[in-house]
Amino acid sequence: MKHAVLVTGCSGFLGWNLCQWLVQNRGESCTVIGTYNRQKIAIPNVKTLSLDLTDETAIAQALNQLQPTTVFHLAAAARPNWCQINSDISHRINVTATLNLATQCADRNIDFVFTSTDLVFDGVRGNYSEEDSVSPVCLYGEQKVAAELAVSDRHPAAKTCRMPLMFGASPSTSASFLQGFIEKLRSPDPLFAFTDEFRTPASAQDAAAGLVVAWENTVEPVMGRRCLHLGGPERLSRYDFAKKLAIALDIPLDQVQPGLQAELTMPAPRSPDTSLNSQRAFDLGYQPDFVERKLKTIVGASQN
Ligand SMILES: NC(=O)c1ccc[n+]([C@@H]2O[C@H](COP(=O)([O-])OP(=O)(O)OC[C@H]3O[C@@H](n4cnc5c(N)ncnc54)[C@H](OP(=O)(O)O)[C@@H]3O)[C@@H](O)[C@H]2O)c1
Repeated sequence: MKHAVLVTGCSGFLGWNLCQWLVQNRGESCTVIGTYNRQKIAIPNVKTLSLDLTDETAIAQALNQLQPTTVFHLAAAARPNWCQINSDISHRINVTATLNLATQCADRNIDFVFTSTDLVFDGVRGNYSEEDSVSPVCLYGEQKVAAELAVSDRHPAAKTCRMPLMFGASPSTSASFLQGFIEKLRSPDPLFAFTDEFRTPASAQDAAAGLVVAWENTVEPVMGRRCLHLGGPERLSRYDFAKKLAIALDIPLDQVQPGLQAELTMPAPRSPDTSLNSQRAFDLGYQPDFVERKLKTIVGASQN
C-alpha cells in the first residue's frame, strides 16, 4: 500500500522543495498531498489544496477526508521580524495550529514530522547539539520552542527537525534569501553581507532529504524530544556565503562587502551564532552538500 504523505506549507519555500523531493525520490511508494493557505499553487504529481491551519475544524475535516499516513508540518509564520510585530496571529499559526494538528494526528495514529529552527538558541556559543538547552532571543524562537514542547507532549512519537538557514530554487509564492543575494550581486551596487551572523546553511533539497531521514529512521528522545538537527556541514557567516555565491556566479569578489548585523536595528533581536551540530542526523544518513559545490549546481541548473 502507498503512503499518503501530507505536506503543510507547500506554497512555501521548503514545502515546495519537499513535495518535489518526495515525488522524485519516493514517488513509487508515496502519494503526495500539499496544503497551502492563501497562495494557490500547482506542483506536478502533487494534489494541492487550501487549508487554514488556524481553523481546528478544517484540520479535522481535511485529515478525515485525505486519510494521510504521514504529515510533514512545515507551514509557519517563518519571518522573525513579522512574528515579533504580529505576536497574536504568529502565535496562533506557529503554536496553536501546531498543537492542534499534532493532537489530531496522534488521535489518528498519523506519523508526524515537525520543522523547528536553529533560532531556538541564543547564539552565544554556536555548534549546538540536540543536548543543548534552548534559549531563544526572539518571539519566533520562543514560539517554535513552545510548538516543540506541544508536539512532544501531544504526539510522543513525532519527530522535530531543527532547520538551518536554507537556500535553493523557490516557487513564485515564496523565496529564500538566495534570490535577493543573486539580484544584488548582479546589480551595479555591492552586496553588504553580515560578518557577525553564523549559521550552518543547507540547500532546501538536501534539507528535504533530511526530513525524510528523520521520518524513515528511529530518532531516540533527547531532552524529552525526538529531535534532530539538520544543519549543513560547515559553519559560515552570511559574508562567507555571499563570497561563495559570487564565485558560483563568476562575479568579482569585491561585489561582496562586509556588513555588521549588530549595527542594524530590527524588530526581532538576532542570535549571532546558531550553527548546528548535526552529527546525529549525519549518523542516520543525512548528507547535506558543501555550500560552494551546491551553489554551483543550483546556478548551473538555473542557466540551462
Ligand atoms: N527558510 C529557512 O531558512 C528556515 C530556517 C529555519 C527554519 N525554517 C522552518 O521551516 C519551515 C518552512 O519555512 P519556509 O521558509 O518554507 O516558510 P515560507 O516560505 O514562509 O512558507 C510558509 C508556508 O506556511 C503557510 N502558512 C502560513 N500561515 C498558514 C496558515 N494559517 N494555515 C496554513 N498554512 C499557512 C504558507 O501558506 P501561503 O503562502 O499559501 O499563505 C506557506 O506555504 C517553517 O516551519 C520554518 O519555521 C525555515
